[in-house]
Amino acid sequence: MEEGKIIELLREVKNKALAFYSDFHVGAVLVTDRNELITGFNIESSSYGLTMCAERVALFKALSEGKNSFKAIYIMSDGEDPCPPCGACRQLLIDYAPDIMVKMISENGRSVELSLKDLLPHAFRDKNLSL
Ligand code: THU
Repeated sequence: MEEGKIIELLREVKNKALAFYSDFHVGAVLVTDRNELITGFNIESSSYGLTMCAERVALFKALSEGKNSFKAIYIMSDGEDPCPPCGACRQLLIDYAPDIMVKMISENGRSVELSLKDLLPHAFRDKNLSL
C-alpha cells in the first residue's frame, strides 16, 4: 500500500470532520490485513461529552462491516504536532487491533510512528474479545 495515497486520503477525511465545537479536525485511516482502507473522522455532539474520536469511528465502522484483522492506523490532525490517540482509543484499539502500528502525522507532514503496544504498555486485556 502506497503511503502517499493514504496521506492524501487522510487529509481529505480530516477536512470533513464534524468538529463544530473544538474546531480540531482529526482523520484516521485503519488498514486491514488485506490493505483495505477504513476511514473515520471525529464527530462532535452538542452534548460535548458524547463526541467520538476519529480513530474509534474508523474502528467501529470496520468491525461492524465484519473486518477484524488490522495492521496499521494512520492519524492526521490539525496543527503542527502529530496527534497521538487518546487513552480511550488506545484501549479500544488494544482490544480489537493489538498488533497495529500507529502513524501520527501533522497537517504539515511531521510524523511519528510507534507500535500500539508501546503507546499502551501493560494494558488491560480480556481474551474473550479475541476475534
Ligand atoms: N480527537 C480525535 O478525534 N482523536 C484523538 O486522537 C484526539 C482527539 C478529537 C475529539 C474532539 O472532537 C477533538 O479531537 C478535540 O479533542
